[in-house]
Amino acid sequence: MKQIAIIDLLHEAKKAAKPAYAPYSKYRVGAAMLVSDGTIFHGCNVENASYGLTICAERVALSSAIAAGHRRFKAMAIVAGGKNAPSPCGACRQVLAEFCKPDFPVYFASAMNINKFKRMSLAKLLPETFKREGITECAEADG
Ligand code: THU
Repeated sequence: MKQIAIIDLLHEAKKAAKPAYAPYSKYRVGAAMLVSDGTIFHGCNVENASYGLTICAERVALSSAIAAGHRRFKAMAIVAGGKNAPSPCGACRQVLAEFCKPDFPVYFASAMNINKFKRMSLAKLLPETFKREGITECAEADG
């Protein structure tokens, strides 16, 4: 992806963080998912009083693209407040791996410095991914 397109996608992710619902952590995250036809879907984190039910920005962006009928993805950008670039959590890596290829690029940057972004492939983020091929019948299993 060209540098300019990456920076644009990161700016979309920064915009996506604006409506974040983060009254507990006060950490606002935005994700921008670029789909095969060039459309960009936004996602933000949505927290919950029952902390474990919080949804990450990445999964919101991916799910809204899926809900609009998309299945082919080009890249994702993630931006958050604070000085560190927001590396996606393990759950989000696994959910991305359901739909995106190993070479799918993930770009992440701090909202304070979009130009200093990191790039990692999904394969690098989640080696030895558990995939549907890993599901085998266990004849001897109970139930
Ligand atoms: N969060 C994300 O949105 N994406 C991640 O990959 C990691 C964490 C959110 C969840 C929670 O609202 C806040 O960041 C602090 O964990």
